[in-house]
Amino acid sequence: MTAASTTTRCYNLGPLRQVPPGEGRVFRVGRSSVAVFRARDGKAYATQALCPHRAGPLADGIIGAGKVVCPLHGEKFDLVTGQSLGNRCPPLEIYPALVDDGGDIIVSLPNHQR
Ligand code: FES
Repeated sequence: MTAASTTTRCYNLGPLRQVPPGEGRVFRVGRSSVAVFRARDGKAYATQALCPHRAGPLADGIIGAGKVVCPLHGEKFDLVTGQSLGNRCPPLEIYPALVDDGGDIIVSLPNHQR
């Protein structure tokens, strides 16, 4: 028996300036949608696009202090761990994200996301 392995692939989503500070935007990657958030300190975070509660558009939520608040019912999620905060929702899928030296957003997604 062999252990299952998860492979990832990096995607350049273009300039971070597409996302205003303190907001999120949805990006299409293949057949998937990814929510990318730009914190006011310049960090980028990437999560699944739809809230695990009732599929609210997370990119339209409010972010701050490393958290996103879903715009539909106000549930909170940690942008680093994906954990729900003060609610019983399943955690968000989170994806490693960074801003490269040229200012582009680089997101690493599992191959099944494409
Ligand atoms: S859909 Fe996000 S909190 Fe309900």
